[in-house]
Order: sequence, then structure tokens, then C-alpha cells
Amino acid sequence: MGRKAVRPAKVFAATAAALLAMGASDGRGADARKGEAAFTRQCALCHTVAKHESNRFGPNLFGILNRRAGSVSGFKYSQAFQSTAQWEWNAETLKAWILGPAHMVPGTTMGVFQGVADRDSDDIIAYLASQK
Ligand code: HEC
Repeated sequence: MGRKAVRPAKVFAATAAALLAMGASDGRGADARKGEAAFTRQCALCHTVAKHESNRFGPNLFGILNRRAGSVSGFKYSQAFQSTAQWEWNAETLKAWILGPAHMVPGTTMGVFQGVADRDSDDIIAYLASQK
């Protein structure tokens, strides 16, 4: 392939980690309040996020940051997800996932969702990070 491009995802991950460590918003980056609104619009159809809420079409996402993928109890993950998603959820893996679930895990049942806009993803991750 010979792609020698820089790795924006890596740069992003470092930035996001710094932002998440600082809190909801520093005025130039992720905003958990906007993330909540974006989550309600784009994710809440399939996901609850409050503690002890039940799974919907997708698993409950309370405390998803730093959690091993595919470990929400009582949720039946797709075969594709179980065999591919061997990572922990952090800013980098979450970003890749919500930008294009079917790209990250071909065959996932979340693949019916096209993915979020790049700008929304930072806010949604900040929101999810606050739900723990
Ligand atoms: C059309 C329904 C649907 C929408 C919309 C949707 N998801 Fe999902 N999501 C799923 C399903 C189904 C799974 C389980 C995937 C599998 O088993 O293949 C999942 C899995 C996940 C996981 C992995 C959870 C784990 O336990 O490892 C995360 C994180 C996630 N979704 C976040 C989001 C976010 C954030 C949004 C909004 C930007 C979103 N999803 C939108 C259906 C959806």
C-alpha cells in the first residue's frame, strides 16, 4: 500500500486523553454537554447509558471507558463482534468505532448505524467518559 501518512488517530488520542483528564471542556475541544445532546439524537435509540438501565438493541454504556469490549452482562453480542473486538474502550478505540462501526468490525449488528460526524465524536466520547 505504501501509505506513509501521519497518524491523526494517534494525535487525536493524545489530545482526547488530555481533554478527558481535564474534564468536560476547555473551550477548544470536547464538550460533554454537547455530547449528551448528540448521544440523545444518535445513540439513545439503541443504547441506554445510566447505571442499571437495561440493554436495548445495543448494550447499556454506563462506565464504558476503560472497559473490555463485549463485557456488558446480559447482552448478546454478534459473533463478528465477539471474535474481533479484543480491545479495551478508550478515546482512540471509541472514536474509531463510532466513526464507522462496520469498518472496525465487519459484520457487527451496529453496522446499520453509519457512524457519527467527526466533530460530534469528540463530544460524545467526553459525555460517555463522564458516565461512570
Ligand atoms: C441502530 C442501533 C445502534 C445505534 C444507533 C448505535 N449503536 Fe452502538 N451498538 C449497537 C449494537 C447492536 C451493538 C453491539 C454490536 C455487536 O454485537 O456486534 C453496539 C455496540 C456498541 C458499543 C460496544 C459496547 C461494548 O459492550 O463493548 C459501543 C461503545 C457503542 N455501541 C456506542 C455507540 C454510540 C456512542 C452510538 C452513537 C454515536 C451508538 N453506539 C449508536 C447498536 C447501535
